[in-house]
Parts: sequence; structure tokens; C-alpha cells
Amino acid sequence: MSGSPSPMRELRRDLFRRVLGHAKAGTTDLAADAMRIDPATYFDEANFERERIRLFRETPLLVCLSPDLPEPGSFRIFDDSGVPIVVSRGSDGQVRAFLNVCRHRGGRVVSEESGRARRFTCRYHGWTYDTSGSVVGVPSEQFFCGRIDTERQLVECPAEERHGMVFVQASPGGTMDLDAHLGDFGAELERLDFAGSEPFMEQKFQSTSNWKFAMDTYLESYHLPTLHRDTFAHVFESNLFLLDMFGPHYRFTFPHKGLEKWIGRPEEEWPIDAMPITYFLFPNTIIAVGSVSANGSSFTTHRLFPTSVGEMYANVRMYGLNGIQSPEHRAEMASNFEKIKGAAADEDYAVTGESWGALSALPEDARFLLGRHEIGVQNFHRNIALAMNQAGEEVSLVRQ
Ligand code: FES
Repeated sequence: MSGSPSPMRELRRDLFRRVLGHAKAGTTDLAADAMRIDPATYFDEANFERERIRLFRETPLLVCLSPDLPEPGSFRIFDDSGVPIVVSRGSDGQVRAFLNVCRHRGGRVVSEESGRARRFTCRYHGWTYDTSGSVVGVPSEQFFCGRIDTERQLVECPAEERHGMVFVQASPGGTMDLDAHLGDFGAELERLDFAGSEPFMEQKFQSTSNWKFAMDTYLESYHLPTLHRDTFAHVFESNLFLLDMFGPHYRFTFPHKGLEKWIGRPEEEWPIDAMPITYFLFPNTIIAVGSVSANGSSFTTHRLFPTSVGEMYANVRMYGLNGIQSPEHRAEMASNFEKIKGAAADEDYAVTGESWGALSALPEDARFLLGRHEIGVQNFHRNIALAMNQAGEEVSLVRQ
């Protein structure tokens, strides 16, 4: 078995030690108490609109990884927040984000999903911009009376490339405090070395469900034996959940089955490369780093976005963590991607899609109950409430 990079091996060893401790004691990470939440947190329209602004317009969002913008001129469309944005790597190597709106009369400047270009030309009347957003060509410019000036630049959105990741805040002309958002989670992301990863596959899913209702499914392993009984239930423990908090972000893991057999065995024998690790980047992104196989390592990003209170969109991408090592590695990743797609579309998004619409039929005083072992879901709802309160919104939808 090939070894993962040293920082990851050390992390995996530490996590293995901790899950083994839990297995030995018959314990798991738990919240202090069970928690009640109001189902209206998923279907209340006014609540949804407030959260959409706070969490998707005023919070840094992961757009892609650095290797998705591999060279000067590489660009990607980012419309997922509801604000049309194009993200590009300039000729100076810097990543920038612009409102994808022409400063002449509002045409869409970039139409392709992704690609490489030295210039962006609006297809309406042909105004052309460079990768720093400046107008560099205007047909029949003489009719604009010398008024094509810096005010005609594309409107910039805050963007930063950090830890091999590209973050954008969908607030045109605004500012972004990425350090404040990531806190000490940044150091954790740094050891993953995403800059050395290689994009492999991408899939988009639409679901008739509220985005938080779908997000909850990623944050607990309680549902594995039932919802995923034919897929992940055979592979992963459902009653052993390890959670580390970094502000509103998490690192969590639920280990492979059969852990007990390693109790009492020397550390050198532990299958630490098999430890899967999952990250939750608040508010909407899961990064699932799989086991290291004989062929190599891979991970998937799952980014969820609301399109309305009852519709969402998920973008799932797979990458080779240290590149795609061989045809065998590629074939293994393709097979894993099919399994992930099947579980997401046919199980997770299916169950949330079929049930969420009935929530508003519950009596007004009905509450859902999150168990102590659903600590990841509990904290997700707490942290949304905290983010809303920090923005001056009174949130009363989450109750103990
Ligand atoms: Fe873009 Fe006219 S709207 S050139």
C-alpha cells in the first residue's frame, strides 16, 4: 500500500488512535444533550431569504480548487450563489472574480462554463475586457464621447486563492475577511495540499428539497444502516463518530467496520491509510478524503446551493489528491465516483426530496429531535443561528 503524505499520515494515525479508544470503550463523540429544532427552519420563506443573503452573499464560498484554474487565462463561471460571476486567473497569475455583467448595457460577458481566454468579449455588441476586468476594445468607440474610462471596468467581487482553494464572496464591490472566516481551519486545510490535486470528474444534481435539509444528511452517520443499507452500511461504522470543531467548520470521521480487531495490536500494524476523513467547510461544502489505496488517493467536494426555499443544486467533483497516478487509479476513481453518485442521487437527495415538502403540514408547535450522536447536525444549526445573530438577525427557529 502506498503511503499518504506525512502530514496526512500523522493525522490519520492520530484519528485511528482516537477511534480505537472509542471502540474499546464502546463510546462515540456526543453532544451534551439532545436538541429540538423547529421544522420551519427548512420551509419558512422569510427565514430562507435572510439566510441566503447572510450565508451565500456575505460569506466566503469555495468556488473550485487551484488546479481548476491551471494557467493564466483559465476561467470558470460561478452562478451558484445567485449572483452571476466569472472567476479567472489573470496574466499575472492572480485569481480575480467579476460580476459577469457587461458595463455597456448588461450583456453576459462570459457564456462558456469554463475555458481559457486572454480576453472576454460580450456577445451583445462586442465590448472586450482583459483578465483584470479592464475594457480593452469597444466597437465604434468614437460614439461614446471619450467616456470609456475606469468606471467601465467589470465590477470586481472579493476573491482569494488560499491553501490550493479558490474562495469568492458574492458581494460585488464588497470586501471579504477570509482569515476571520477560516480561523485555525486554514492550517488544517493546508496539510491537504490541494494545489497538487488533479481534477477528474464532475456531476451536478438538482433536488426538490431545502438545501439545509439535504446538508444535514452529510453531517451524521446515524442513517447509514437504514438509508444506505445496500451501499455504505457494509463499509462504515454508524455508531462511532469523531468530530473536531474549528469554529463553524468541522473535521469528522466514521471509520471502516471491523475496528475491534485492531484493539491491542501494535500501532505499526494499524491500517491508518484506510482512515477516511471528511471536512465540512461552513456553510455548504463537504470535502470527503477517501482511503489511500494501492493506486493512490482521491477526494470529492460536495457543494450545495439553494435555488429557492424548496429547490437546491449540488455540485460534486472528484480529484486525485496527489494527481491521478495511473490508468488503474483512474479506473478505481471512476468506480468510486459511480458509487458516490448513486448514494447521493438515489438515497440522500431522494429521501430529502420526497419528504421535505410535507414538513409544513406539521402542527405549528411540532419540533424535530436531534440525538446526542447527531452532534454534527446539531452544531450546523447552532452555527447558522450564530451567524444570523452576528448579522443582527434574531433567530428563534432553533430551540433546545
Ligand atoms: Fe455588452 Fe453591449 S451589452 S457590449
